[in-house]
Amino acid sequence: MYTSSYLTYSSIGSTIHRKCIIAIKHKVPLLISSYTHKHPSYLTYSSRLISTSKRINSNNDQNKNPLTPKQKQLIDCMIRIDQAGEIGANYIYKGQLAVLGSDEKISPVIKEMWEQEKLHLKTFDEIMPRFRVRPTILRPIWEALGFILGAGTAMMGKEAAMACTEAVETTIGEHYNDQLRDLLSIEHEDIDELRKIIKQFRDDELQHLDTAVDLDAKKAPFYGPLTAIIHHGCKAAIWITGRF
Ligand SMILES: [Fe+2]
Ligand SMILES: [Fe+2]
Repeated sequence: MYTSSYLTYSSIGSTIHRKCIIAIKHKVPLLISSYTHKHPSYLTYSSRLISTSKRINSNNDQNKNPLTPKQKQLIDCMIRIDQAGEIGANYIYKGQLAVLGSDEKISPVIKEMWEQEKLHLKTFDEIMPRFRVRPTILRPIWEALGFILGAGTAMMGKEAAMACTEAVETTIGEHYNDQLRDLLSIEHEDIDELRKIIKQFRDDELQHLDTAVDLDAKKAPFYGPLTAIIHHGCKAAIWITGRF
């Protein structure tokens, strides 16, 4: 009885597994090719980043000169924070789009910034296991808070949503700059590649910041206190994620 039930479940399980594999094999390349056909620049940008992260991965496997424990601790902390920051950014844009998705002017801009955040997160997801970095245990909290922040400010209006983007991207841009300064003292092949990635992402975040300012972030209601709260909240999130 038990054996026959087990065999039935096992066969259902393997059928589902087979169907998932077939779906992934066929649907994912179609989706990617349709997106990259519409946005050829994304393909170049994406392959450049992915090849850099692959180079880090292969260098890290073969490197004969490992990082010191202190350097390793610094890099662990950096990558954990960066991955968590990109998770938060993804959920902020998701929250903004949930409210402003039907706005013809602002929705395409948010979607474009979100696409870049997806790629940032994907890159850190790929780097993380190779540097053997533990992800933050607070991921569900940053996802929820990111979404609430994005949706909440979007409900206050387009300008408030852009003020949120301005405050977040300012903090993240400063944070990436701090990391670039810390990485200057480490001479290591893997770290050179990591530095290139962080530099590219810093430039992307600063571009998002400029976009938000161009879209009237400074006309948001309660602009001063709103951006100050978000800025300090992001700083606190960075501090906590470095430890947990
Ligand atoms: Fe990002
Ligand atoms: Fe960004």
